Amino acid sequence: MVSLHIKLIFNGYVVFYCAAIILPNICICSLFSMPSSDQFSKDPGTFPVATNGESFPWRELRLPNVVIPLHYDLFVHPNLTSLDFVASEKIEVLVRDATQFIILHSKDLEIMNVTLHSEEDLRYRKPGKKLNVLNYPAHQQIALLVPEKLLADLKYYVAIDFQAKLADGFEGFYKSTYRTLGGETRTIAVTDFEPTEARMAFPCFDEPLFKANFSIKIRRESRHIALSNMPKVKTIELEGGLLEDHFETTVKMSTYLVAYIVCDFKSVSGTSSSGVKVSIYASPDKWSQTHYALEASLKLLDFYENYFDINYPLPKLGRFKFHIVIFIVTYRMCFDFPPSYVI
Ligand SMILES: *[C@@H]1O[C@H](CO)[C@@H](O)[C@H](O)[C@H]1NC(C)=O
Ligand SMILES: *[C@@H]1O[C@H](CO)[C@@H](O)[C@H](O)[C@H]1NC(C)=O
Ligand SMILES: *[C@@H]1O[C@H](CO)[C@@H](O)[C@H](O)[C@H]1NC(C)=O
Repeated sequence: MVSLHIKLIFNGYVVFYCAAIILPNICICSLFSMPSSDQFSKDPGTFPVATNGESFPWRELRLPNVVIPLHYDLFVHPNLTSLDFVASEKIEVLVRDATQFIILHSKDLEIMNVTLHSEEDLRYRKPGKKLNVLNYPAHQQIALLVPEKLLADLKYYVAIDFQAKLADGFEGFYKSTYRTLGGETRTIAVTDFEPTEARMAFPCFDEPLFKANFSIKIRRESRHIALSNMPKVKTIELEGGLLEDHFETTVKMSTYLVAYIVCDFKSVSGTSSSGVKVSIYASPDKWSQTHYALEASLKLLDFYENYFDINYPLPKLGRFKFHIVIFIVTYRMCFDFPPSYVI
């Protein structure tokens, strides 16, 4: 049992450093194969058909590179009783070339409301424009159709309200359960977005090259905690007793690195010799193992920092994509890790 822990943690670090070194190179190569956005006007006859019967304006699996995300303001309100979530986001985008549509990834999300603001709309507090949405599930894409062309080199803000069930399985924003020592079954909600499942949790530009900052807010009940990539800035108390945690804005990073969890776990914390705070979260029945896990994590972090001579770049240690899942499912334990290998 104990040696297995070491192995999992060790694998996590290997993945972490491989990703830091290999991924950027892959991304740079793929930059050259990005499709352009003028295909629609050239040959509209061969475009796919959206779920409502209209022509979907984009036929490539890869997104066009004319609209670039800069910042996501993401609000998530999961309910661990009804096993669903409502959410909204505001994506700040930069338009590189004039375009009539924005293509985003979205999978199994019910999109309720999309509004577009230009910078001028915001400055003069104008209401913004409602956008029509086309769905093309075969490519897990949606198209937001804008009434007037978006202009090159301007910033726009896309606000989307959406909802979904917490997913079954281990991808996207999914539900998981554990059993307490008293035999009670408790639910937690966890994300695992790698490689392309962030689109199951929020509409996004779900390709590693589209890096952006993320500001995440999570609404929860007081018996739960919420964790995300970054340290919490504040918690707001809402009418009716719900709480809302606001997390610091991340560095620029890919969508698959975004992570959040709502659960009723407890934590132990320690500090590595370079001053990084590490916390281990575990369900009560795994409490006895957390101190060992913490000790091992601190030692490993010190080891890798010395070995690679790279200091851990963020204030908190976090996110082991797959490894979070392993610990929750098999050990009911997770690391409070934000994405670390952001380049
Ligand atoms: C749609 O968005 C607008 C602007 O953000 C908001 O005023 C309106 O209440 C929303 N409608 C629905 C049905 O969510
Ligand atoms: C979830 O729904 C239940 C009722 O079904 C409600 O009592 C509870 O406050 C909700 N929790 C959140 C976080 O909205
Ligand atoms: C976005 O991340 C970059 C670092 O990757 C940082 O310099 C910048 O301040 C961040 N932006 C915001 C709005 O926090």
